[in-house]
Amino acid sequence: MKVLVTGGAGYIGSHTTVSLIENGFDVVVVDNFSNSKEKVLERLKTITNKEIKCYKVDCCDYEELRKVFVNEQIDAVIHFAGYKAVGESVRLPLMYYQNNLDSLLTTVKLMLEFKVNNLVFSSSATVYGKPKSVPIYEDFPLSVTNPYGRTKLMIEEILADVTKANSFFKVAILRYFNPIGAHESGLLGEDPEGIPNNLMPYITQVCIGKLPKINVFGNDYDTIDGTGVRDYIHVMDLAYGHVLALNKLSSSKDNYLVYNLGTGKGTSVLELINAMQEVVNKPIPYEIVERRPGDIDCCYANCDKAFNELGFKAKYNIHDMCETSWNFQVKNPKGIL
Ligand code: UD1
Repeated sequence: MKVLVTGGAGYIGSHTTVSLIENGFDVVVVDNFSNSKEKVLERLKTITNKEIKCYKVDCCDYEELRKVFVNEQIDAVIHFAGYKAVGESVRLPLMYYQNNLDSLLTTVKLMLEFKVNNLVFSSSATVYGKPKSVPIYEDFPLSVTNPYGRTKLMIEEILADVTKANSFFKVAILRYFNPIGAHESGLLGEDPEGIPNNLMPYITQVCIGKLPKINVFGNDYDTIDGTGVRDYIHVMDLAYGHVLALNKLSSSKDNYLVYNLGTGKGTSVLELINAMQEVVNKPIPYEIVERRPGDIDCCYANCDKAFNELGFKAKYNIHDMCETSWNFQVKNPKGIL
């Protein structure tokens, strides 16, 4: 089975590519490298021992993407390609709507044209907004607080309409909680441009001395120690979730499936910092600062549906996540060059 992975050089896309190849799939990557490095392809080759076909194409470019569909006999698509920074989306909403929606619409249009009927879409727990309670189940009400989140929710709704209109077209929506960690080789990992927005890359950059201290956004939340609680999931566990979703799509009668991918466990900011301290074996400087606007206190998944229907169960713990994130940071002090 040949899988087209859009955004396959990105953080989650590259790890998923490894997992797909390990599980016997052929992979074709499409990436415009707007937020990833071409070097990732060489690293994928080192890890998998396979030459991975990659097209430098923007998924919004119908003519160029069409050439990929013409050249390759694609059986399924995993769609990652899109912008993902919350703060940037608030400043540049049009850019987010234009890019994220267009890249999805163009991809799906071509899938219908070429009768490629299985799609896995990279969504986010951000579509639950501020959940009424935790753990979060897939049937909780959906809402969003920023344009990035709205693109995810809009795309979920678009895909629901497309599957209603085309009973042969099957979609699995995967709602990721907080992916962290890296491939054990240290060759792949999260490689943000500039100052990281997300907690884990911020922590590793403090540990390596690039940033002076972690700003902990609030310690007066209604949580175990007052700091924000999230469901951190190892990116390799998340990657394998895509393999399971693809397998499920081939056998499923339903054509619109939605799954949470998390561990089902919440970890606070201070707990994550402590776990990393054990890995680096030294104190990590941090300071409690104001809450970050738009943040919620607590967010973790109920993962029963993914377990019961996909056989998905995260196998890595917080220590593994910290260890592999740190290994990636140490081996790539200036990012992937
Ligand atoms: C964020 C996005 C979410 C997106 C996800 C992608 C926001 C509001 N949400 O989730 O839509 O899908 O990234 O990975 O940006 N924290 C600090 N100091 C920091 C950074 C973070 O204390 O320097 C805290 C946050 O307050 C939060 C936790 O760490 O409690 C995790 O934050 P982050 O890694 O940014 O992820 P989310 O906010 O959960």
